[in-house]
Amino acid sequence: MGQVYVSNHPLVQHKLTILRDINTEPKRFRELLREITWLLLYEATRDLAVEEKQVTTPLGTAVGVQLTEDIAFCPILRAGLGMIEPALELIPGAQVWHIGIYRDHKTLKPIEYYTSLPKKATAQVAIILDPMLATGGSAVMAGTLLKGIGVPRIKFVGIIAAPEGLEKLRNSHPDIDVFVAAVDKYLTPEPQKPGDPPAGYIVPGLGDAGDRQFGTS
Ligand code: PRP
Ligand code: URA
Repeated sequence: MGQVYVSNHPLVQHKLTILRDINTEPKRFRELLREITWLLLYEATRDLAVEEKQVTTPLGTAVGVQLTEDIAFCPILRAGLGMIEPALELIPGAQVWHIGIYRDHKTLKPIEYYTSLPKKATAQVAIILDPMLATGGSAVMAGTLLKGIGVPRIKFVGIIAAPEGLEKLRNSHPDIDVFVAAVDKYLTPEPQKPGDPPAGYIVPGLGDAGDRQFGTS
């Protein structure tokens, strides 16, 4: 069974609080998303394999390590786009496999509209990047696509999960490690009256992660 890591790091929680704030503008939102992704990936990459490597310093020889596994970052469009740059800052040699999935507004079911995966896995570790794990449909589909090309190890890095989505991902792909900054309370139900929010949004969450990054609505 894979692990579920919910960060309680003060930096992560401080930044997450500003990220959630309705008054946080897209520019600041993108900066915070980038910073939190960086901090979560620090944990998510803790078990990457390394081999010994010697380097010559100005004063002698140092025995260190180098990463030995090929890594692929897999952002789910659109909201995962803001997580690619910090990921590539940490591992510049990683591949990026874009996965285009959106939720149908009525059914909340995931719809795949674009993927750029290799035919056969060219990385040993794939890290799915998506800020929001709501019903879990998008993350489950991404995991299934990655397993379909034979990726041996898959991780999910997100910002906020709903309990419902976390359970669905764990049931469908128990082997996928999950790293998030928070597990929130619940998902909004079907609206009952005008003014109610649409169904399937994380409460308290942060709203629509794509819209908040890119200034759309
Ligand atoms: C959001 C989010 C996830 C998905 C999560 O994307 O970025 O991909 O919803 O919901 P789920 O767990 O219920 O599948 P959205 O479908 O709004 O697409 P967008 O990023 O292109 O706006
Ligand atoms: N997608 C989002 O961007 N936010 C939610 O709360 C749920 C799905």
